[in-house]
Formats: sequence, structure tokens, C-alpha cells
Amino acid sequence: MRVGFGSDHAGFFLKEILKKHLEEKGFECVDYGTYSEDRVDYPDYGKLVGEKVASGEVDKGVLICGTGIGISISANKVKGVRAAVCSEPYSAKMTVRHNDANIIAMGARVVGEDVAKMIVDTFFSEEFEGGRHLDRVNKMMKIEEEN
Ligand code: RB5
Repeated sequence: MRVGFGSDHAGFFLKEILKKHLEEKGFECVDYGTYSEDRVDYPDYGKLVGEKVASGEVDKGVLICGTGIGISISANKVKGVRAAVCSEPYSAKMTVRHNDANIIAMGARVVGEDVAKMIVDTFFSEEFEGGRHLDRVNKMMKIEEEN
């Protein structure tokens, strides 16, 4: 599995930790930046990773900013993206099972390092359930088409 990573300056340190964590588990991690704690704008990285996931260049994405909110809103503007901000593993599990989320987002100023690792581990170990949830996901994606 190829995983695309992105963060702003606030999420940089947690991105580095989670990238290493997933690499140790055998994931192929592609880092789209940012590459330091110099101030940058989260929409640039949400858009970039969103486009990489939507185009299939990577299978899934991990996005981190201070809250996880700005970067996930930005990614969700890209057609085909379903980015979910999660602060605990239960939501990470359910957003894969029910929403078929293709990007997990977190706030580096919200979650601690260990919880963040649990969130990504959960996100990458779950599967979409399909069935009635597929109908709902399709309805969500239709909103994109209509707007
Ligand atoms: C940067 O200070 C901060 O606004 C950003 O990381 C994020 O929390 C925005 O949603």
C-alpha cells in the first residue's frame, strides 16, 4: 500500500513520527511535504495529497495540521476525496467501515503521539463494509457532481 503524507508546519513533527511508524510496518510512504517547521499554508498540502489520492498515485493519505480541520477541509474540495478528521480510534474505524474514507486527518495540537499511532493503525487495518453504506457514499459523491 502506498500512503501519501502531507502536513503544514504545525503537523510536521507528527507527520515525521507517523511516517516512520508506518514505514516500519512495511507501508510505502510518499512524503509530499512540508519538510520543516517553517510556516506554510495548510490548503496547499491538503490539495496536493487530495489530488495524489484522487488520481491513484497513492492509495490513501494521511494529513496533519494543528487541528486537522483546515487541511481536511482543503482535501475534501478535491473530487473523489473523503477525508476524515479523527481524534480517537473508534472514529477512524467507523470512517473506513461506513464512509470509505480515503484520507485520515489529525490535529498535531489535539492528539498525542501514541493516540495518533493508534488512529493510523486502525485506519489501515479496517475495510469498507459496502452494502447500504455504499449507497450512502454514492449519495455523498453525487453532491460533488451536482455542485
Ligand atoms: C496553523 O497555525 C493552524 O491554523 C493550522 O495548522 C490548522 O490548525 C488549521 O486548521
